[in-house]
Order: sequence, then C-alpha cells, then structure tokens
Amino acid sequence: MPKCSVFIATSLDGFIARKDGALDWLPSSDGASGGEDYGYKSFFESIDALIFGRKTYELASSFAEWPYTGKSVVVLSSCYPKTLQPISHNVEGTSLPPRNLLSELESRGVQHIYVDGGTTIQSFLRNGLIDELTITRVPVLIGEGISLFGATGHDIRLNHISTKAFPSGFVQSKYRVDNAA
Ligand SMILES: NC(=O)c1ccc[n+]([C@@H]2O[C@H](COP(=O)([O-])OP(=O)(O)OC[C@H]3O[C@@H](n4cnc5c(N)ncnc54)[C@H](OP(=O)(O)O)[C@@H]3O)[C@@H](O)[C@H]2O)c1
Repeated sequence: MPKCSVFIATSLDGFIARKDGALDWLPSSDGASGGEDYGYKSFFESIDALIFGRKTYELASSFAEWPYTGKSVVVLSSCYPKTLQPISHNVEGTSLPPRNLLSELESRGVQHIYVDGGTTIQSFLRNGLIDELTITRVPVLIGEGISLFGATGHDIRLNHISTKAFPSGFVQSKYRVDNAA
C-alpha cells in the first residue's frame, strides 16, 4: 500500500476549522509567520498524490490559484459523480472505499499520499491506513469547530517522532501510527 501522511494545522483545542469551515484563525504562511512554511514545501515535494474529502476540495477549488499543480488529486465523495465537477485533468472523483482507493493508486505506481480533510483523515485512521501524522498546533483556542479527531472504534497508538516549537508559538509534532497494535 502507498504511504499515507497527514500534514495539518489545528487550534490548540483540536479544531481544523470553525463550524462554518472558516480558517480566519490560521495565520497565512506568507504573512504573520514571516515566510516560515513549517516544512510544508519539503513535505509537498515528497508526495505524489493527494486524497481530499469533498469539503476540503471545495475549499481548495475556491482559491484564486490551484495550489496542487503537478500532483494527482483524488476527491472522495459518497455521492460521486453527482457532487463533483473536476476542475482539471489532474483531479478525479471517487466513491471507492479508502482501502480499495489505495489499491487502485498503488496499481498506478503512487507511493506517497497526502490525505486531507477532517472526516477523511478520521475514516483513513479508523481503517488503519494513515502511516504518519504531522500536526502543527496554533496557539489559539477557538472553542468549537470541526475536529481533527473523532470516534475511532478502537485505540490507535502513535509513536512520537519529533516535536519542534517555532518562534511564532506554533508547535509541530510528528507521529508514526502503529497500525499493527
Ligand atoms: N486546518 C487545516 O490545516 C485544514 C486542512 C484541510 C481542511 N481544513 C478544513 O476542514 C474542513 C473540511 O473538513 P471536513 O471534516 O468537514 O470534511 P472533508 O474530510 O474535507 O470532507 C468530508 C466529505 O468527504 C467525503 N468523504 C470523506 N470520507 C469518505 C469516505 N470514506 N467515503 C466516501 N466519501 C468520503 C464525504 O463527501 P460527501 O458528503 O459528498 O459524501 C464527506 O462529507 C474545511 O472547512 C477546511 O477548511 C482545514
């Protein structure tokens, strides 16, 4: 199976977005962070495909510029093809279950996938399909919102790889998921 990684920012209280999807609490990488990209560029260069949940894809496709040029993007939606209008030949939709989707991508030679979107990450975690998590905690409490984690159905053990604190107050931790446990 291809390696699946998560690279995501959360509020200190564990949310990836406000209830309405807003990310206004998250400083942009070019502004307040003084050009610091928190390792995103090097992570992005290491992946060859992305799997997005439909909601994260809808947000990304609203950006003025498509940020994933050169990478294959697969969008998960249980209602595909009704829900999605792919925007370029690098974007495709699917309703395949996560494990079947990974087998399909493996048959195409994909080796490292960036999985993004809260519900999507949770569904891959539940199925033992996430290998690595890089979580950057932003020092803000937003009280409520869309959680990164949710019901797992079973304990998921993680091995801590590293934690780095940035001058901005962001704290980034990297974990390997122990899918054998
Ligand atoms: N803080 C950050 O770094 C960060 C990063 C990414 C996203 N976000 C934010 O997170 C929010 C979106 O996260 P989210 O948790 O609401 O949604 P999401 O994971 O992006 O999308 C959820 C949708 O994906 C589809 N989906 C997910 N798993 C599936 C599966 N196993 N099989 C079939 N379809 C599946 C379903 O689409 P259907 O309903 O069409 O079936 C589901 O409703 C956005 O507001 C975005 O701004 C934040």
